[in-house]
Amino acid sequence: MRKNIVAGNWKMNTTVPEGVELAKAVLEASAKVPAEVGLVIATPFTHLCPVAAVVAGTRVELSAENCADKEKGAYTGEVSAAMIKSAGCQYTILGHSERRQYYGETDEKLVEKTKLALANGLKVILCVGENLEEREAGKHFAVVEAQTKNVLSQFTAEDMASIVIAYEPVWAIGTGKTATADQAEEIHAYIRGLLKDMFGAKVADDTTILYGGSCKPSNAAELFAKSDIDGGLIGGASLKAEDFIGIALSF
Ligand code: PGA
Repeated sequence: MRKNIVAGNWKMNTTVPEGVELAKAVLEASAKVPAEVGLVIATPFTHLCPVAAVVAGTRVELSAENCADKEKGAYTGEVSAAMIKSAGCQYTILGHSERRQYYGETDEKLVEKTKLALANGLKVILCVGENLEEREAGKHFAVVEAQTKNVLSQFTAEDMASIVIAYEPVWAIGTGKTATADQAEEIHAYIRGLLKDMFGAKVADDTTILYGGSCKPSNAAELFAKSDIDGGLIGGASLKAEDFIGIALSF
């Protein structure tokens, strides 16, 4: 059966000392969260090693926010999947809408990044989601289907054991405008249906699908009560340990 996960995406926030303090606060507060709920924090690259030292050997898992689409070599400024793994990460986020929108992340690049992440023993949180224009034009199912299939068609049922999907409608990210639980559930169920067509019922049942976009302690319970919503990818609210853990207590 699939795992419930709450993952914090710190984005480009906090200095290293602030991040270490935040990780410590999350770790301390995590004692309240039932053991079966997965807790992941995704930090900037600079924070991975010191935060790994804080959470190593605990229930809190560590994630990067991105990784390179090349294995190694002359790619100035890039950080490889092997580096991320060696810094102590279990996960990397890939395909966040901010990377797609501002840094030209394409589905083709995401295939390469996902391959390298999996080859280096990292699990992937693959983000998909439509923007406002696409939703208003009624294209949200088609957009999410294309993003999901373009990447996952290059992977096997076995690979799916290391892939978590995050549905993040772009219009709900950082805007305070959450998708309603019904709107989110409708897409989550649709994604699970796609997984069933691609990989069979077992993979569809076993894959964790997170919701992201203005998720907070006050709305998490309603979202997580839906049968196809298995947790959240949390931006703004993950910067306060109390809010992040409050969300993790909402299952
Ligand atoms: P938000 O971000 O919770 O601040 O809306 C979610 C995300 O982008 O992962």
